Amino acid sequence: MTIKACVFDAYGTLFDVSAAAREAAAEPGREALARCWQALAATWREKQLGYSWLRAITGEHADFWQVTGEALDYAMAEQNLTDEALRKRLMALYFELSAYPEVPGMLEQLKDAGFATAILSNGSPEMLMGAVTSAGIGAVLDDVISVEDVGVFKPDRRVYDLVGTALDVAPQDVLFVSSNGWDAAAAAGYGFQTAWVNRAGLPMDRMPWRPAHVLTDLSPIPDFAGRL
Ligand code: LAC
Repeated sequence: MTIKACVFDAYGTLFDVSAAAREAAAEPGREALARCWQALAATWREKQLGYSWLRAITGEHADFWQVTGEALDYAMAEQNLTDEALRKRLMALYFELSAYPEVPGMLEQLKDAGFATAILSNGSPEMLMGAVTSAGIGAVLDDVISVEDVGVFKPDRRVYDLVGTALDVAPQDVLFVSSNGWDAAAAAGYGFQTAWVNRAGLPMDRMPWRPAHVLTDLSPIPDFAGRL
């Protein structure tokens, strides 16, 4: 089986979703955040995903930037943080979220090997452009595909359909890579080749489908894609 395109989830896969809270906590005058940034980052992410699924189920779509802000409001309230300047700073850092160190080199290798490369993400076009630009990876991506084109979040199948339309490929021609176990599993159910990047050593999600391959970071992807 050969593949033509490597398509990546964004948040948690290419971009480190803990980076905003970690970087803000290291800034001067952030003692209150420094005491709780790991818990805040975990709740922020958990609520961001939970709210996206609830909006998808109920049909009450709002873009991922709004959902990310609402999740941060919950996470800050849980930690009794009421500092509006801190909220602004955390959102600004999220807009330019740091990429994992292996990301630029890995994408360059894929392009050199002739694969199409793209992001498929819940993110709004604006926030995806912010992160792509700050990571300097725009030139090694053929497309940045946002769920805003269909107005519903993953794992709705209409989101995965966007890849075929954008890149003119069949599902079996695509290696879909995600660090979110549920996203990799749903993409496998859709018909993509899949790799779950399990950086944290988490158990396999109990869903009706399983990702075909499990990796611990993104560096093996170019070799791996060439062997599929
Ligand atoms: C995304 C979320 C799932 O980037 O992390 O689509």
